[in-house]
Amino acid sequence: MKKIMKPEFWKESVIYEVYPRSFKDSNNDGIGDIPGILSKLDYLQDLGIDIIWLPPVYPSPNADYGYDITDHYGINPEYGTMDDWKQLLHELHERNMRMIMDLVINHTSDEHPWFKESRSSRDNKYRDYYFWRDPAPDGGPPNNWTSFLGDSMWHLDEQTGQYYLHSYGIKQPDLNWDNPNVRKDMHRAMRFWLDMGMDGYRIDAVNSISKDTSFPPATDTEKMQANSSEFYKNGPHIHEYLHEMYTEVFSHYNIFTTGEASDVTLEEVKEYTHPAREELNMVLMIEASKICDDPKDMWKSKSWDLHELKEIVAKWQKDLYGEGWMGTYLSNHDHPRLVAYLGDEGRYRVESAKMLGIFQLTLRGTPYIYQGDEIGMTNASHLHTIDDVTEQQARVYYDLMTTKYGEDPEQVMKRIRPKARDNARTPMQWDDSQYADFSAQKPWMQVNPNKEYINVQRQEDDPDSILTMYRKLIHIRRKSSALLYGKYDCIMSEHDQIFAYTREWHDEHWLIILNFSRSEAELQLPQELIDRLESSELILCTHGDHSRDVARAAISQQPAQLKPYESLVFRGFSILDQ
Ligand code: NOJ
Repeated sequence: MKKIMKPEFWKESVIYEVYPRSFKDSNNDGIGDIPGILSKLDYLQDLGIDIIWLPPVYPSPNADYGYDITDHYGINPEYGTMDDWKQLLHELHERNMRMIMDLVINHTSDEHPWFKESRSSRDNKYRDYYFWRDPAPDGGPPNNWTSFLGDSMWHLDEQTGQYYLHSYGIKQPDLNWDNPNVRKDMHRAMRFWLDMGMDGYRIDAVNSISKDTSFPPATDTEKMQANSSEFYKNGPHIHEYLHEMYTEVFSHYNIFTTGEASDVTLEEVKEYTHPAREELNMVLMIEASKICDDPKDMWKSKSWDLHELKEIVAKWQKDLYGEGWMGTYLSNHDHPRLVAYLGDEGRYRVESAKMLGIFQLTLRGTPYIYQGDEIGMTNASHLHTIDDVTEQQARVYYDLMTTKYGEDPEQVMKRIRPKARDNARTPMQWDDSQYADFSAQKPWMQVNPNKEYINVQRQEDDPDSILTMYRKLIHIRRKSSALLYGKYDCIMSEHDQIFAYTREWHDEHWLIILNFSRSEAELQLPQELIDRLESSELILCTHGDHSRDVARAAISQQPAQLKPYESLVFRGFSILDQ
């Protein structure tokens, strides 16, 4: 495919995910809401955010906190009204900011009117909006597919005696995109928000919408969750349906679209995002956020090393160059906190949070920052028993393991505690007051007691805080073509602790050095880089005078010791062979 490097606003933007339930509660019912977000726009603007991503605020029974929609055209009263939503969009636009929302197209809630009709009888006109199949000869599910939650992907509906398909929870039946009426109805819902001025979509589970409807048996029977993904990830008609979506809807607006697509090869990402193919604008780099998940069972942790991370990053940074675009995302509301899985939640929390910020904001690709990462928020501390966990994925896993597989509940909880999605969903920590100024009432989820020292107020005016580092980084990134569009090259790629790379665009050059470890690391730059560093400037660093000493030593060919997570950003070193 032809190489392209056309500047676009969405390539140059920084996106911030607001998890609406936990960001800011304006009416003191303990649940975050849209007016709460409105009250924090100054904060987001000061941070330098261009676009907010708002996960689902549509009416929903909240089996999956909004990812189970009952009405694509409304606002869940818990979050406010349609007028609140319009005001939010208006005020964002007044500030030259934008907003994208989640488009959940793979499934609806089982309480959606389409599904209620669909399940009412075998000959209902909505029957074919979802996947219904007869039981297997033994009365069990039609095949052995498991959902993302690990249970059977089929659920028996007693009333009509057939099973329906759900790739997520039982309350989230999958839509049948092969039915042209489903596609038309979904296109209409997409236009509804775009006609009101919305700036784009993050499309949920986008590469799962076209299934192999012969439903062949899954062969990877050892895999707990989604054992049959090869039959519906990047499925038979996916490109056809995305191109149709583009022609029917997206192409009529000045918007952009991001696909949440896991299990994709880089070739597939190019197919989804090359402009000539008219499908999506970017796909999220999800691989890195799964680096500590055992591929057979995501709840089991596997150790990871820096070489693995370097490989993932190199693939997305280099192989995609000029042929597609990506969102660089390292955490969101579905993962443990960034410092918890890629950094250090304890002794080096501040250092590792800064390093991870530098990492994400100096790579090519549109950064998606998750709320609270900019102040180094940590995993939840209240998940003692399964009753403390609110999210369905962990709860279904717990039930399966303790009942079907007879595992010891405490052993299962040991896996769940560091990984439950609740970890990222604790209320945003604005200050050190009782409920961290998220709300004046007891919030829907417990505030992390470390709000005493991890909070926005404490970091706002501190020149050395994580928050200040993020502000600087966003500011620097915005002005640098090299950081936005430049070529990426990893240096010292064999190093076990240091992740270092250059970014270059015409005569603009950057060198980023990150000690990605809890131990000191010896820095000895390759000679050809030292030669180029002479005219460079240390733009940003994590350890003040120590980092400046390291920089001086490195330039004068002296070996130097980087402290744990110490990071340096140089600009302007000269071109090789000049
Ligand atoms: C991805 C969303 O981020 C997650 O929260 C949700 O559970 C699934 N898609 C299903 O919609």
